[in-house]
Amino acid sequence: MEKVVSGIRPTGNLHLGNYFGAVKSFVAMQDQYQCMFFIADWHSLTTHPKPGDIQNSVRTILAEYLACGIDPVKAPIYVQSDVRETLELYLYLNMNCYLGELERVTTFKEKARQQPDNVNAGLLTYPTLMAADILQHRAAKVPVGKDQEQNMEMARRCARRFNNIYGVEFFPEPQNFYFSDKALKVPGLDGSGKMGKSTGNCIYLRDDDKTITKKVMKAVTDSGPTEPNSEKPEVIENLFTFLRIASTPDTYQYFDEKWNDCSIRYGDLKKQIAQDLCAIVAPIRERIEQFSADTATLDRIARDGAEVARQSARATIDEVRRIIGFRII
Ligand code: TRP
Repeated sequence: MEKVVSGIRPTGNLHLGNYFGAVKSFVAMQDQYQCMFFIADWHSLTTHPKPGDIQNSVRTILAEYLACGIDPVKAPIYVQSDVRETLELYLYLNMNCYLGELERVTTFKEKARQQPDNVNAGLLTYPTLMAADILQHRAAKVPVGKDQEQNMEMARRCARRFNNIYGVEFFPEPQNFYFSDKALKVPGLDGSGKMGKSTGNCIYLRDDDKTITKKVMKAVTDSGPTEPNSEKPEVIENLFTFLRIASTPDTYQYFDEKWNDCSIRYGDLKKQIAQDLCAIVAPIRERIEQFSADTATLDRIARDGAEVARQSARATIDEVRRIIGFRII
């Protein structure tokens, strides 16, 4: 089975956009690939040197991913900072990465602009740490968003360069894995394009029925169709996208007909969406609550995951040491 590795940025709680856009695909992948997921807490030090209560944010993320269906037996899930082996590979890879190419990475340039007083070396070498995350497991595929294109290119370059310098065929070049064809783009509730944390238009997996219903009922609409069979404006199309995601085809068709003959009542449409979204979120929310209350289980899952990751990384790093010429310790 091909190896798949992916890092989870520890940013806020999961919302429906994350769930349908990525997490559901992670869950589907665990049966087809040898998956490993980790929480990239070292990476967050590049922008947040004092991260607050790390233990609890890690548990929050773990609880949410597990509640969505990540099975740690099939797909070990670990915390990046629990696996020190990564750092040794990060060091070796850094020796073959050049200032010029690291400075050209757009995310570096952006962050450097955003935090001009903290343009630290970790920020510059963010792509090398990411390459170490991936290459330590000799992963073939990495599910990432489009914004990670350059970082993935650096990871491939690290692999190629190592192989060239030492004349070996050791590291496979990891390929980006997009599930955008399978993933659904969840629209925002404020009429804007996409559900995203920064735009504050999210339904979170932790939201209770009342909160979800309130958010849906507040969704932006227009004054209604005036001509039969007219094209739907974006805000209305967005609501229909929710129907497509959460409701049955019959329900979709029912409201589509109502739109087409101009008898649609947005209140009814929203009530339907709210009800069907609640039906999806409620069982996940309940599992989040169960996991969150059981910190011993969460900690054990992370410890077990780290053990698997450490073994996988150690095998790679022993080989790397041997290839470079260091003693195996
Ligand atoms: N840079 C990724 C992001 O911002 C997170 C990440 C860190 C990652 N290390 C990784 C993703 C390794 C995939 C593989 O989303």
